[in-house]
Formats: sequence, C-alpha cells, structure tokens
Amino acid sequence: MKNIHKISLLVFSAAIMISAGLKQENLSNRKAFAVMPADSSVKIDKATGLIVDKGLDMVTAHCTGCHSSKLITQFHTDRAGWLEKIRWMQQKQKLWALGDAEPVILDYLAKNYPASETVNRRAALKGVEWYKLK
Ligand code: HEC
Repeated sequence: MKNIHKISLLVFSAAIMISAGLKQENLSNRKAFAVMPADSSVKIDKATGLIVDKGLDMVTAHCTGCHSSKLITQFHTDRAGWLEKIRWMQQKQKLWALGDAEPVILDYLAKNYPASETVNRRAALKGVEWYKLK
C-alpha cells in the first residue's frame, strides 16, 4: 500500500472512532437525564430509587415486588397511561387488584413520572381510531 493510502485510512478510522465516541457520550447523557429528576429539590428514596412523595409507601409495596423500580422510573406517561399499564399487568402479568391503593398510586405516578417529551415515552395517543389489519 502506498503511504498516502495508509494515511487516508488512518484519518478515516480516526474519524469513525471519534464519531462513535461522541455517540456513546450522547447516549449516556440521555440515560443520566432520564433517571435524574429535573427539579433538584426532589428527594430520591435510597432503598427504591423512587421519588419521595405522598404514596411512595404504597408504590413500594405494590410495584417493586416483581421487577426493578427502574421499570417505573424509565417509563413516563400521564394518569390514563399509567392506569392502562396497571390494567395490562393485571391482565397479563398477574398483578393483583390494587383496591384503595390504586388512586393513591396513580396520583403518585402521574405527578412524579408524568408524560414527557424528553424521557423515553410520549404521552398516550388520544382520539385515535384504531383499525384491524387485514
Ligand atoms: C405481579 C408482578 C408485577 C407487579 C406487582 C407489578 N408489575 Fe410491572 N411488570 C410486570 C411484568 C412481568 C412486566 C414486564 C417486564 C418485562 O417486560 O421484562 C412489568 C412491566 C412494567 C413496566 C414496563 C412496561 C413497559 O411497557 O415498558 C412498568 C412501567 C411497570 N411494570 C410498572 C409497574 C407499577 C407502577 C406497578 C405497581 C402498580 C407494577 N409494575 C407492579 C409485573 C409486575
């Protein structure tokens, strides 16, 4: 190989490595942002990683037995979206009836993990007419 080819190959690989590095950094920034509350006055419960607020005890009792609380903190949606997720877990994943705890849990989730443009999930679609694929 001629030297000029070697050099251009070197420059090319360096460019790829730098852009891969930048991408990685962007990803990890996004991740950090996703679990960090925007408001620095928000307190995080050490044991669960969930935001300390009214209803945390109920959420801890009902929502951290089967899976990591990270499934909750990574998932952001509005109250209707949270209810839908709970119903889905009740139908498919053996989640029990939440009884009187349900509205408290929904208030907590909708307030602390609301729908967000920047965190993973958009708000639930409204007024969509779904149709069956043929
Ligand atoms: C009986 C077991 C069980 C309990 C209790 C439970 N879940 Fe789940 N949940 C699951 C399973 C199973 C999944 C699917 C996990 C997976 O995809 O790996 C899941 C997934 C999730 C997800 C991710 C859904 C997605 O689409 O990405 C969220 C959010 C969630 N649960 C929230 C909650 C909340 C809030 C509570 C408390 C009301 C709760 N879970 C209690 C079993 C449970």
